[in-house]
Amino acid sequence: MRNPRRYRGIDYSRGCYLRRIDNNRIEKMFSPRFSIQSEALNRADADVWAVSDRARELAGKGEDVIFLCVGDPNFDTPEPILDFARARLGVGRTHYSPAAGEPVLRRAIADIESKVSPHPCSPDDVVVFPGGTNAIYSVLACLLNPGEEIVIPEPMYIGYVPICDSLRLKVKPVPCPAETHFAFDVEAIKRAIGENTRAVMINTPGNPTGAMATPEQLRELAAYCRARNIWLVCDEMYSMITFARRHTSLRTAAEHLDNIVVIDGLSKSHAMSGWRLGWAVARGPLVERLAEFAGATIFGCPQFIQETAAFALEFDTYFVKQMRDAYLVRRDLIVERIGRMPGLSCTVPDAGMFVMMDVSRVALSQNGGSSRAFAESLLDAERVSVLPGSAFGASAKNHVRLTLAADEASLNRALDRIERFVASGSRQAG
Ligand SMILES: Cc1ncc(COP(=O)(O)O)c(C=O)c1O
Repeated sequence: MRNPRRYRGIDYSRGCYLRRIDNNRIEKMFSPRFSIQSEALNRADADVWAVSDRARELAGKGEDVIFLCVGDPNFDTPEPILDFARARLGVGRTHYSPAAGEPVLRRAIADIESKVSPHPCSPDDVVVFPGGTNAIYSVLACLLNPGEEIVIPEPMYIGYVPICDSLRLKVKPVPCPAETHFAFDVEAIKRAIGENTRAVMINTPGNPTGAMATPEQLRELAAYCRARNIWLVCDEMYSMITFARRHTSLRTAAEHLDNIVVIDGLSKSHAMSGWRLGWAVARGPLVERLAEFAGATIFGCPQFIQETAAFALEFDTYFVKQMRDAYLVRRDLIVERIGRMPGLSCTVPDAGMFVMMDVSRVALSQNGGSSRAFAESLLDAERVSVLPGSAFGASAKNHVRLTLAADEASLNRALDRIERFVASGSRQAG
């Protein structure tokens, strides 16, 4: 029998394959092979962005598309922050930086933590990363092995899935149902924790729901996880965009700090998404592990960006409030207008940059029943791009996510179109 690894004397066992050029010639081709980690990423989120990818294509062809699918603040980074960065560039702060972060930034973050929390925070408890995503990736890479289980409440931030997939973690989602306004549910999380659970990751204030955990819930969960010898990671990227009440950090609420990690950053609060600046606050040996990981994978964030971040954190009260106030006006505008549209409803988010709109009644009557179909048809009919809730987990399957990162005029235009879309659908259905 012919050797399956050889063809006419040519060995293709090392990832090569063959192409016949003509009767006498065979060309040996390079056949790319990738790591399991990369293959997992490749599969991860193709579907999730399908509607917004198509929206971008339409916009590229000159169509008037209104994007309500993005979580990127539509404000420019405030001018004093830009000035400060220019000045730091001007004095040559463009060299390597310590792996764990510039001392001035670690100090600024620690000072903020110490001000709000009963637990003093030292700069040695802080590690700086290029953005929240990288902070989450690094933390999970340091805490869990492939195949181990992480419990995460859903609806959850879309970015968690590819991170967990690429680290080959087993995600156990904990439903936070729409019927209870996606409220944080400590008992459900506790029930989900099993023998194989190594970590719980929560997100408060939450994307996409805007739900916030109370200090008591955070305290209880931290104690429970500690007693079970489990890590508790808390993503607090929206900590400064709250409407109903002030955010309480897990670090402030927890009694003990040795099993907890808090992640935050400047992308949302300071309209600095493109600066790529985030951090993790932890205790003890984990900080060293994170610093080593950062040293191996990123080798320090840019000096001028870190120094500018320290400046932004120290002098931010005015512009963070201004942006938060604008988000609040937009939230109220969306909630009020949706409230007047027959067939639609929404939960009022306590925080964050999004409103979850319940489309189940409309979707059932006109769009095959799914939020994805609703998002597709809305884009087709009215050129408004929203994210289907199913992308965030089963509990959001009846919702679509609308962003607050659009000015009032665009929001009003988009809501006019949504209103027309729903009305025309109910006429057809009628
Ligand atoms: C909940 C949550 N965590 C983390 C991130 C990632 O933040 P960054 O843009 O700093 O990587 C986002 C961004 O949308 C987010 O919504």
